[in-house]
Amino acid sequence: MNVITAQPSGGPDVLHIARRPVPSPGPGEVLIKVHAAGVNGADLREREGKYPVPPGAPDIMGLEVSGEVVSTGSGCTRFAAGDRVCALLIGGGYAEYALAPEGQCMPVPDGVSLTDAAGLPEVYCTVWTNMMDRCALQAGETVLIQGGTSGIGCAAIQIARAHGATVFATARNDEKCAAMRTLGVHHPINYKDTDFAEACRAATDERGVDVVIDIIGGDYLPKEVELLAHGGRLMIINLRGGKLAEVDFGHVHARHLTITGARLRPRSIAEKSAICRALEANIWPLFADGTISPVTYAVLPFAEAGEAHRLMESSRHIGKIILTA
Ligand SMILES: NC(=O)c1ccc[n+]([C@@H]2O[C@H](COP(=O)([O-])OP(=O)(O)OC[C@H]3O[C@@H](n4cnc5c(N)ncnc54)[C@H](OP(=O)(O)O)[C@@H]3O)[C@@H](O)[C@H]2O)c1
Repeated sequence: MNVITAQPSGGPDVLHIARRPVPSPGPGEVLIKVHAAGVNGADLREREGKYPVPPGAPDIMGLEVSGEVVSTGSGCTRFAAGDRVCALLIGGGYAEYALAPEGQCMPVPDGVSLTDAAGLPEVYCTVWTNMMDRCALQAGETVLIQGGTSGIGCAAIQIARAHGATVFATARNDEKCAAMRTLGVHHPINYKDTDFAEACRAATDERGVDVVIDIIGGDYLPKEVELLAHGGRLMIINLRGGKLAEVDFGHVHARHLTITGARLRPRSIAEKSAICRALEANIWPLFADGTISPVTYAVLPFAEAGEAHRLMESSRHIGKIILTA
């Protein structure tokens, strides 16, 4: 089969097509003929050789795919050859065929194309487990989503809005802010010309927000902790701006705050499978009835994977970038 590899690591130009044997499904695994693969921020870091790939992950990048089941290993009970699925992977998605644990496969939601479905597993699993499960965002609460036009951000905005939260989200320019408003953000914030904390305080009568979903860290952290309302929760899903910060923990103490963080990729198959079942129960019906929809910015063939990475690095995109096999 053809795969996209990034060896040696480096810039987008290192991505090239190579030949590998088609893998065989082991116990509990499903072999998928890949139709499309989602591009994620982690792929860029992996291509650069800067991402700590978990043990057991293939040396081919790609955290999510859609496609058709070709065969199944022993012990698989749910899916069979010919089923259309999307799947959360530990790696290996940039390939003509990919293996996934059966529990991490989901039917393509009604109303979603097979191509768009490739961009759902990684971001919706991440947002569900962090924003809805761990931070328990409730109807009537307020949430600040940093990077609202990222793949993660577009999913978080739609889920938060669908669950009755008031949504604040940040982006670098007015065009992106307008796109966020269309997606359902009540208070878009252009972080280049507006202080996000001041904007949130002004719009909440100085109360602050209940939940912050952060991908930046660094000097955002002390401001986010200070911004949280009583009982507020800060979820750190990345630290693009730095791991170190001076935080006034007096706010945590005085206002009963929770600060936490998480990574999806190293979690166990059992944990990821449970998150996939939660998506099917809670999120897939929202695609079917049109409450939410995939936000796909660009679709490129696998042969143009370098161009797809360049596009993500430019940060022009709003939503997901997808590669098709
Ligand atoms: N913990 C986990 O399990 C997990 C899982 C998946 C993804 N993630 C992380 O989530 C993030 C988003 O992933 P993605 O694949 O959706 O990537 P992406 O689409 O490339 O998103 C990156 C985003 O960062 C935003 N950004 C950059 N500087 C910013 C700043 N100073 N303030 C606010 N926003 C800023 C960009 O928005 P502008 O263009 O507006 O600057 C862009 O939307 C990545 O950092 C990724 O590593 C974590």
